[in-house]
Amino acid sequence: MKSTIVAPANIAFVKYWGARDLSSALPLDPSISMTLSVCATTTTVEALPEGAADSIELIDAGGTARVAPERFAARVLAHLERLRAHIGTSRGFRVATRNSFPAAAGLASSASGFAALATAVSSALGDKPSGRELSIRARLSGSGSASRSVLGGYVEWPAPPGDDPDAPAAALFPASHWDLADVIAVVETAEKDVASIDGHRRAATSPHFETRRNLLPTRLAAVRLAIEERRLDLLGPVLEEEAVELHLIAMSSRPPIFYWRPATLAVLEAIRRARQQGLSAWATMDAGANVHTICERSAAKDVAQLLRAVAGVEEVIEDHVGNGPVSAPAHLF
Ligand code: DP6
Repeated sequence: MKSTIVAPANIAFVKYWGARDLSSALPLDPSISMTLSVCATTTTVEALPEGAADSIELIDAGGTARVAPERFAARVLAHLERLRAHIGTSRGFRVATRNSFPAAAGLASSASGFAALATAVSSALGDKPSGRELSIRARLSGSGSASRSVLGGYVEWPAPPGDDPDAPAAALFPASHWDLADVIAVVETAEKDVASIDGHRRAATSPHFETRRNLLPTRLAAVRLAIEERRLDLLGPVLEEEAVELHLIAMSSRPPIFYWRPATLAVLEAIRRARQQGLSAWATMDAGANVHTICERSAAKDVAQLLRAVAGVEEVIEDHVGNGPVSAPAHLF
């Protein structure tokens, strides 16, 4: 059986940064995200006979299949291994995957990639897991943010209570609840120097890590309320504060991690200035140099125009809240 799934990336409003157990991506704290639409990964999985070797291809923007780079292939193979053990199968899998956006540049390619892989493997086996179970299967990749990308709209991934590892992500509100945009200023397309996993590993070495943890309950409550009441004036300041603190922690970890580039600051400055002129748009960044600008969908064109004018911005992607993974009729092989 063959299945093709298109799974979206997501942008965290409250970040997952710091893990209780990195090998199985168990977070120390809850995170809240918005599932996207445009930034997505398409993955075709064919279930092979029992004991067959896995194969992984990467399809480039022009549609040409390439052998997957070693590090990427190793992460995919490890995820397939864990999925096999979790589901209870010994089948091999042929996998082909394609991104709609620059991979590994803080644009959550792992989140969409592993959400697509977990969903496509499940459906290639003829399995129809619940959203809850899919979230657990996506998390087995080691990419915690993937556990949020299997669901649409506004999603919360709780910290696991006690020793229970399986606290899956759950939808707070569907995409139809609030039509928000994420206008992404791409200032860097190269792979980042330090992977998120190393950021999580070093996070607790920052003197600011515990301070942020203490602030999180209030911050999470504010974000939940802002989404519920569709209040960008309430959401915006909190999500910007969260993003800056993630980078503050990264920059003060030992050894420190600097994700920002000069153009990151130029974009932040442009957004701040535009806000003073009355534009309601707020910035957030994941573990990378690119800036995600959150605004009402009706303001997205104005925001995109503003970002395109900032020196150092290579590309602007107009994305928006979306519904989560869907199956696609056209297979990649
Ligand atoms: C900064 O461990 O999920 O994006 O495996 O690279 O996707 P990848 O990272 P992961 O950490 C995500 C960190 C973050 C914040 C977030 O998305 O919550």
